[in-house]
Amino acid sequence: LTSAGRAHDLAGRHVVVSAGGTREPLDPVRFLGNRSSGRQGYALAQAAAARGAQVTLVAANVTLADPAGVKVVHVETTAQLRDEVVAAAGSADAVVMAAAPADFRPVSVSSAKIKKAGDGSAAPIELVQNPDILAEISHDRLRSGQVVVGFAAETGDATGSVLDLGRAKLARKGCDLLVVNDVAGGAVFGAEDNEAVILAASGMAVEVPRGSKTALAHAIWDQVVARLG
Ligand code: CTP
Ligand code: CA
Repeated sequence: LTSAGRAHDLAGRHVVVSAGGTREPLDPVRFLGNRSSGRQGYALAQAAAARGAQVTLVAANVTLADPAGVKVVHVETTAQLRDEVVAAAGSADAVVMAAAPADFRPVSVSSAKIKKAGDGSAAPIELVQNPDILAEISHDRLRSGQVVVGFAAETGDATGSVLDLGRAKLARKGCDLLVVNDVAGGAVFGAEDNEAVILAASGMAVEVPRGSKTALAHAIWDQVVARLG
């Protein structure tokens, strides 16, 4: 199906999408961050707009052009991302957390540039855990009937397969849908296409074959639309 074939099945709906990777400042010139490009989140925002939604895109450090017809809020840190997502979620029919928030931030941010020690030793960087936005949104359900979607990039390990880890994460977060990428083979970050399994809290799993991030975006919105009242 093309986006035209789906008509405007998100018309009259407000959706919130987060995208990109947060950065946690250490000092005026340095940060802790990750390689998320924001492409999947931007594809989700564009696909939702094409299906008639009012879209708020909360973008963390994304260098892509703002999509047309989408309200874009630019942020840097996980704390800022959380505040903007929570503010927009109050009126949202769906929230999709495609962003990669930094899990930790430095306990304090130095106002002066951190200097080398001179004796060759490295000063320790003390970290504190960031708030879990997806778990908070899933728990609070700021609007009744709101559909909440998370993402997980997993490799599988001794404790379980990619899907086992995805199922456990879905339950832990309390979201309705979790889009699971198997990243064991190599790069998803910055890649042009994507392959995923969409897990639902109901137990259902939809395999989305390798294809464009736009195709995955539409497959995700199909599952969201099916769950909207
Ligand atoms: N997420 C979030 N807030 C955080 C961390 C993650 O909202 N502080 C969201 C991501 O946007 C994603 C989902 O939670 O939709 C899963 O992210 P992931 O990093 O896989 O989850 P974590 O709980 O951080 O687990 P892990 O220890 O595996 O990184
Ligand atoms: Ca994480």
